[in-house]
Amino acid sequence: MVVPPTPENLERAAQVLRSGGLVAFPTETVYGLGANALEATAVAKIFEAKERPSFDPLIVHVADQEMLRVVVREIPPLAERLIERFWPGPLTLVLPKSAEVPGLVTAGLPTVAVRMPAHPVALELIRRAGLPVAAPSANPFGYLSPTRAEHVERMLGHRVDLILDGGRTAFGVESTIVLLAERPVLLRYGAVTVEELKDVLGTLELQIGESEKPLVPGQLPQHYAPRTPIRMAPAESIPLEVRRRVGYLAFQEVPKGFKVVKVLSPTGDLREAAAHLFEALHQLDRLGLEAIYAEPVPEMGLGRAIMDRLRRAASNP
Ligand code: TXA
Ligand code: MG
Repeated sequence: MVVPPTPENLERAAQVLRSGGLVAFPTETVYGLGANALEATAVAKIFEAKERPSFDPLIVHVADQEMLRVVVREIPPLAERLIERFWPGPLTLVLPKSAEVPGLVTAGLPTVAVRMPAHPVALELIRRAGLPVAAPSANPFGYLSPTRAEHVERMLGHRVDLILDGGRTAFGVESTIVLLAERPVLLRYGAVTVEELKDVLGTLELQIGESEKPLVPGQLPQHYAPRTPIRMAPAESIPLEVRRRVGYLAFQEVPKGFKVVKVLSPTGDLREAAAHLFEALHQLDRLGLEAIYAEPVPEMGLGRAIMDRLRRAASNP
């Protein structure tokens, strides 16, 4: 059931989490599918609902530093600096896990991915539940991420106890993931840009490659995909007779001749484009098109996260 985030509904949702149920809630990135992170049987419901393979670890969401200390064993100085600069916000840190966190959450890894979301509804929900909340994006495994409550309702409505509607999410792409080993390693492009991270860290190692046995399943070559086949190509390269039959996801301008066009940002703003990316793909995917073509965007700032999602969506399984 989709409900507005009134104090009563937040209390109800917190109660669902405390009693081991599933709540979908808005964050500043995408909607999350949450369960009590300290309870393996509750977390198991997430994997079931998403049909997510259990080798794919989850992100734990906390509302304050006290909760952070419940789920991690130590906070290295570099992590402190990133937390100070980016939390609450769309940066996930991978840190040594505490014994409190069930192995199912971390897929047996000795580390746990954790973040403090910046969305007031998410924070209030976690606070009221009084629990760290494990939450992947609220979509079936491998499919487009949800940026609106109705995306969650359509994809997983029958499998979730409650959906809190917080409107469209601000960033529209998932959090950036950084592993803090001896050196910081970027595991996933996301809403915090590489440029912003380098500002704090100086250097940053990348480990974003495509592999069949990835460290992070967001690194699976095929991910974030619509059901309609999707390809990346500039409009000029697509013949007119093809254009008539397919949809186009354009960055800034409307090219001629396509059956349908969605523009990500008329002003060419990458932040706006990221915020519209999954929504536009959800819309195009519902039209029963033969194919969707997507225009490449500049690979800087949020453009890197957009291109990462498009490449994976376009990759054949
Ligand atoms: O923006 C976001 O991060 C959203 C919202 C709901 O917070 N959540 C999200 O979760 O994107 P999910 O499950 O779709 O992606 C989590 C990623 C996975 O690819 C997972 O493998 C990685 O985080 N991850 C989790 N724990 C990890 C660990 N210990 N080491 C490396 N990667 C980890
Ligand atoms: Mg996901």
